[in-house]
Amino acid sequence: LSEPSHHGGNLRLALQKYGLGSQGFVDFSANLNPLGPPVRVLEVIKNNIDKVYSYPDPECTQLKERISSQLGVAEGDVIVTNGANELIYLICAHFSGGKALLVEPGFSEYLDAARAFCLDVAFYFLREDRNFVMDSDDFLNSARPESVDVIFICNPNNPTGMMISHDEMVKVVRGCEQSGAFLVVDESFVELSDFPDDSVIGLVKKFRKLLIIRSMTKSYGLAGIRLGYGISNSDLICNLLRKQPTWSVNSLAQLAGEAALTDSNYLARSRELIALERKLLFEGLMRPDIKTYPSNVNFILLRLLNNKISPWNFEDYLGRRGIIVRNCSNFMGLGDGFFRIAIRTKEENLRLLAALNGFQHDAF
Ligand SMILES: Cc1ncc(COP(=O)(O)O)c(C=O)c1O
Repeated sequence: LSEPSHHGGNLRLALQKYGLGSQGFVDFSANLNPLGPPVRVLEVIKNNIDKVYSYPDPECTQLKERISSQLGVAEGDVIVTNGANELIYLICAHFSGGKALLVEPGFSEYLDAARAFCLDVAFYFLREDRNFVMDSDDFLNSARPESVDVIFICNPNNPTGMMISHDEMVKVVRGCEQSGAFLVVDESFVELSDFPDDSVIGLVKKFRKLLIIRSMTKSYGLAGIRLGYGISNSDLICNLLRKQPTWSVNSLAQLAGEAALTDSNYLARSRELIALERKLLFEGLMRPDIKTYPSNVNFILLRLLNNKISPWNFEDYLGRRGIIVRNCSNFMGLGDGFFRIAIRTKEENLRLLAALNGFQHDAF
């Protein structure tokens, strides 16, 4: 881990570097649901293990039906993908050769996908003195949405952790539509946030140039099998489906998704745990050498204030104690000293705080 990993959750690298068994680590670098997958998802996978011999339903019919009935959208407005990430690549393939506008600091796959499909990229930077919260008026006035084909906005934003309110988002959606740009709102974390009802999925019926991304990987802890979906108008969805490789979403992921969506309590329980544990983590992180940024989701962005502390030493100190955090120095608009930690279970969070309590900069 001498260079920051491109993403969180790379346990192979951590294992290589620190040599503890994978059980010895607590991974605060991947921002997944701290509850882990719902029990019924694990049962469905075990009970259907024989499905590995057959091809999956290429249309994801049953899962699509369930998503559409739960969200109150038409089945033709839904695309199911191999993680939200596949959808990001399909969108960039659709706008291939055009111009994209990205908000930074933001999820790095937008830029990777844009580059893979030769999009010209412009950036809008969130301001640290506003805790990296987007101001919709400033965005619409200064980011020049009229000059691009597609805009990616992540709400709540990863890695900064704040959500723009529904009203602000409506202004952005309206402004982008008027400017002629297509708006992608990545709501991969909205179901784990304090404001799940601030989702703008409901606006898809009214605004044609809008697509919402959701990650069941994040919301239901399915990183090993991958699952995501998108909601937009049926013409665009048809176009994206034509670009999607056949059988992209495997059988176990489809069944896991269906089972996850039948667990009506799970997301509410997850949000309760996240809100409680986030408060305790914020309290535990109140110390003069660390600045935390406000969060209303399942991760916290922090910054080391003492520039005598090398971020590498900080990361290494925790890594040697079996704690993996996300070094955010390679995010555009952040830089050395920024880290992201996921909210995990009480026991795990206490382990992080105990390790941090032992961390003194003069130890280096
Ligand atoms: C904002 C955001 N969108 C999409 C993804 C990709 O989600 P998935 O793991 O479902 O592909 C991630 C993963 O980190 C993310 O942070």
